[in-house]
Amino acid sequence: MNGFKVRGGASLHGVARVGGSKNAALALLAGALCVEGEVVLHNFPAVSDVLLMVDLLRLMGVKAERNGDTLWMDVRGLNCSEPPENYVRKMRASFYLMGPLLARLGRAKMPVPGGCQIGTRPVDYHIKGLHQLGVEITQTQGAYEAVASQLVGAEIYFDFPSAGATQHLMTAAVLAEGNTLIQHAAMEPEVLDLAYFLNRMGARIEGAGTNTITIQGVRKLQGGEYSLISDRVQAGSYLLAGAITHGDVTVEGVHPEHLQPLNLKMRECGVNVTEGNDWVRVQNPNRHNATDITTMPFPGFPTDLQQPMCAFLTLANGASVVREQVYDGRNKHVGELQRMGADIKATDGRTFIINGVDRLTAARVEAHDLRGGAAMIIAALAAEGESLVSGAEYVDRGYQGFEEALNNLGGSIERVALEAEDSAVVSSTP
Ligand code: EPZ
Repeated sequence: MNGFKVRGGASLHGVARVGGSKNAALALLAGALCVEGEVVLHNFPAVSDVLLMVDLLRLMGVKAERNGDTLWMDVRGLNCSEPPENYVRKMRASFYLMGPLLARLGRAKMPVPGGCQIGTRPVDYHIKGLHQLGVEITQTQGAYEAVASQLVGAEIYFDFPSAGATQHLMTAAVLAEGNTLIQHAAMEPEVLDLAYFLNRMGARIEGAGTNTITIQGVRKLQGGEYSLISDRVQAGSYLLAGAITHGDVTVEGVHPEHLQPLNLKMRECGVNVTEGNDWVRVQNPNRHNATDITTMPFPGFPTDLQQPMCAFLTLANGASVVREQVYDGRNKHVGELQRMGADIKATDGRTFIINGVDRLTAARVEAHDLRGGAAMIIAALAAEGESLVSGAEYVDRGYQGFEEALNNLGGSIERVALEAEDSAVVSSTP
């Protein structure tokens, strides 16, 4: 198992450049399956989840070559409607392939995605929406088998503005016969990026970025080029690392409006946050104040920054209440932060009370998921002493060159091989 040795205490200073959005890349790779031609994606992130998806598409007949942060694909060879189970079970986003496979090949077989470390994560909105688009779906032996001779437009409503379901069904609808209306749609920047991409390929999508999206079905999408948005969660993680260490950090290559929920909450804590057209800077020379956080779909506070924000608030002056409203299990970071001396407790699986302490102390801690791993590193950068953070493979799923960027800012992070006994003693779950 790999991990990170993190020596805390230094204030981070400097500029970090942020790469393309992992979640936009995963959505666009699925959407690209609807394109019968060549696709070139720029600002393409080389994080392990995304590279795994590219490998999966290659197995399905898609030609794909990556050169730095540019990916070239030729989707005309798509010939597989049953993605290998070992890939799909590793990554929930591969479920988004179902709609495009039905649009291109008329059938798809997909394992039922499991839950993960942050919650149950059902796909009922996806299945219900595909049914409405004219798909016949049966569930047998842990897999969905779906057929559709022709997808047809429909009126779709989400009980909860699911980002993935919005992306998935928007993609399925672009080649449907007739028009589709998605109401109570997600408004995440990654949804908007997917719509821009599909329209660049010839789709007719309007309203993305609002809660009502209309898709006018077309017969075919031609190829083209597109540049992805930057990764707002990676950017926010760098900003919180700068703020918790009382440094002065600028992230470049970002869309400040995508970071607005975080920027506003950091300002509430007394952090000096300034913005330019493609950069955001934090300066936090003094001890920051506490604040309350409630995670919500965009433009609410992003759930993917909830754990890094908890780390930041453990050293605030005062008490904070953090409510995780999106996932029912995004709480494994609480026990790990306690090991570093944080006064944080979960009143239930989704509400955390944080009483700011004067100092954190180094410890051996565990990353249970991608964003929890980032939170552990952020806390360890501010803790006194040398921490061991196990679970580097989680961090690598969504952060490209995380330790290099933080070291360039003055951090001290070394990637290390950890023996089993090195990783934190994980309390057995009751
Ligand atoms: C996407 O996940 C992101 N993943 C997540 O990022 C992100 O946290 C999430 O959107 C919210 O912004 C990718 O884009 C690959 P959801 P997704 O569907 O689409 C419930 C990260 O760390 N729900 O918006 O799976 C669900 O249980 C990852 O980068 C249903 O009930 O999230 C959850 O409570 C983590 N039924 C809520 O909606 C459904 O059919 C939000 O889920 C679908 C979702």
